[in-house]
Amino acid sequence: MMTLMLGDVAPDFTSETSAGEISFHDWAGDNWVVLFSHPADFTPVCTTELGRVAQLSDEWAKRDVKPIALSVDSKEDHDNWISDINSYGNTTVEYPIIADPNKTVAELYGMIHPNEGDTSSVRSVFIIDPAKKIRLTMTYPKSTGRNFDEILRVIDALQTADRAEVATPVDWKSGDRIVVPPTVTTDEARERFDDVQESFPYLRTAQIRGN
Ligand code: BEZ
Repeated sequence: MMTLMLGDVAPDFTSETSAGEISFHDWAGDNWVVLFSHPADFTPVCTTELGRVAQLSDEWAKRDVKPIALSVDSKEDHDNWISDINSYGNTTVEYPIIADPNKTVAELYGMIHPNEGDTSSVRSVFIIDPAKKIRLTMTYPKSTGRNFDEILRVIDALQTADRAEVATPVDWKSGDRIVVPPTVTTDEARERFDDVQESFPYLRTAQIRGN
């Protein structure tokens, strides 16, 4: 198995999910995708995580993002577990959960880390853009639930970087000052952005117009 790297095309696959069979690229369409794996259905941390993703449905939609989960459990397990997630999270899971009992997709995406317990998937995250390119990966151990506010934050950063051709500094969130990329001169930056400040020749920050 080759390790998937940033900029690689996210491999396509066809799989059964809790919402029916999907062809991944067709299902993604022109949206961004958050493909995330969890170790197992009917486990506590996973129940909290999948509920949080459902609670954030408006936030994903605002950003044209489709979430999709995966574990090596069966569709029948997913279907039975969803009512627990909904009940605990006071929410409704509407996004698909991939059923991957043969581990085909989990292995394709390197989601099984043999030194991290058994042969189920770890907590992997792939953020995939509308061109199907992998833009960000994260891997969390089984014991640690993810922070989906951080995943929304990095999607905001990636979408802002694409739209305004900028970079974003530490702890950036929507509306904060951006970093002027090294390829842009300070004169050009003053034409494109508001309130350009030069701390060092290599560290210029600015406000995106209209923010
Ligand atoms: C959990 O979701 O709680 C969990 C799953 C696998 C290993 C450890 C924790």
